[in-house]
Amino acid sequence: MSISEKVRKMMAERAWIRRMFEEGIVLKQRYGEENVFDLSLGNPIMEPPAEFNRELKQLAEQPLSGGHRYMENAGYPETRAAVARQLSLETGIKFTVKDIIMTCGAAGALNVVLRTILNPGDEVIIFAPYFLEYLNYIEYHDGVARVLPSDEQFIPRLDVLKAAIGAKTRVVLVNSPNNPTGVVYAETLLQQLGKLLHEKEAQYGTQIFLVSDEAYRKIIYDKLRFQSPLHHHHQSIMVASHSKDLALPGERIGYIAVYPDCSQQEELINGLIFCNRTLGFVNAPALMQHVVRHLQHVTVSVDEYQKKRDFLYDHLIKMGYSVIKPQGAFYMFPESPLEDDVAFVRELQRWKVLTVPGRGFGAPGYFRISYCVDDQTLEGSLAGFRKAAEKFSLG
Ligand SMILES: Cc1ncc(COP(=O)(O)O)c(C=O)c1O
Repeated sequence: MSISEKVRKMMAERAWIRRMFEEGIVLKQRYGEENVFDLSLGNPIMEPPAEFNRELKQLAEQPLSGGHRYMENAGYPETRAAVARQLSLETGIKFTVKDIIMTCGAAGALNVVLRTILNPGDEVIIFAPYFLEYLNYIEYHDGVARVLPSDEQFIPRLDVLKAAIGAKTRVVLVNSPNNPTGVVYAETLLQQLGKLLHEKEAQYGTQIFLVSDEAYRKIIYDKLRFQSPLHHHHQSIMVASHSKDLALPGERIGYIAVYPDCSQQEELINGLIFCNRTLGFVNAPALMQHVVRHLQHVTVSVDEYQKKRDFLYDHLIKMGYSVIKPQGAFYMFPESPLEDDVAFVRELQRWKVLTVPGRGFGAPGYFRISYCVDDQTLEGSLAGFRKAAEKFSLG
């Protein structure tokens, strides 16, 4: 066997998006790109904002001396200070340069965080449906994933959480705006969550980290304001990224922000920096750190995504699909008209529409649509959704 049993098992069990992607390639080869409507990947169609190219150009024309060398493993202090300044403005929490560590995206950040705080066998609570990589990351770092259900609106069920937290619980991991549902958590939920974590810490004499995955924090609709979970639990760590808000997923740039008053903050930060280095990231890409330093106040056009959401949501509802209207990110998670979500996704494939079965996100009976695609692809997908709806007598 050329690969470890562990990796082989993980690859076999959790390959839904990849599988759909590969089947999509075959379909595209057979029928032509323009005739296949690929809504399977969260790869934003938008180009980075104009300010990004301006900063890049400036760096190319007036290179910074030593600007491509190794640096502090936490990242350039100027970049971390810029992130801290903007985050403080947005959240009202007083972050400073010491609270920020630049990382290779939110994915890198999550791995660093879990490596740093988990002892073998520690439990990480996540809520289904979840971003499917969570299971891999938790397993890599010797944790045990405890998957809890959400309610029909895809909101974490606090009664279930209350019963599930025990002496082994080390992390509660939340993701809002959520992949795959697009749901944004309300402040009242976060308040109750914080209160519950305090009670449980007191009950068990433990520290429970609230880890907030905010990869989509700026992709938020309907004039909602993003509420930071960090207000409600001080033992908290945020992970964020510029993959979506600046449309730079290939550049691998994100950060960790630690709540300034969390206990043993210095040791925690030193641990995070150590793991950023020794997991092999070493530091976040230098060039991107120079660029995003000046772009903390910039975001791609969220209105464009909102238009896509409205377009698709309105059509799907008219066709009879049951969908919770997303308030952020760029995914929709409709109920599958067939109990077997894989069978339904295959049905959509027959009409050359590519989506991902809900079971890939721990939620069988649903399917995920990623609508960060161009308008032609969205428009082209409607015929397939309609045919499938007619076949299963929706509406
Ligand atoms: C919920 C969630 N967290 C983290 C990530 C990782 O993002 P990044 O590109 O910043 O590593 C993604 C990417 O799609 C995501 O959907």
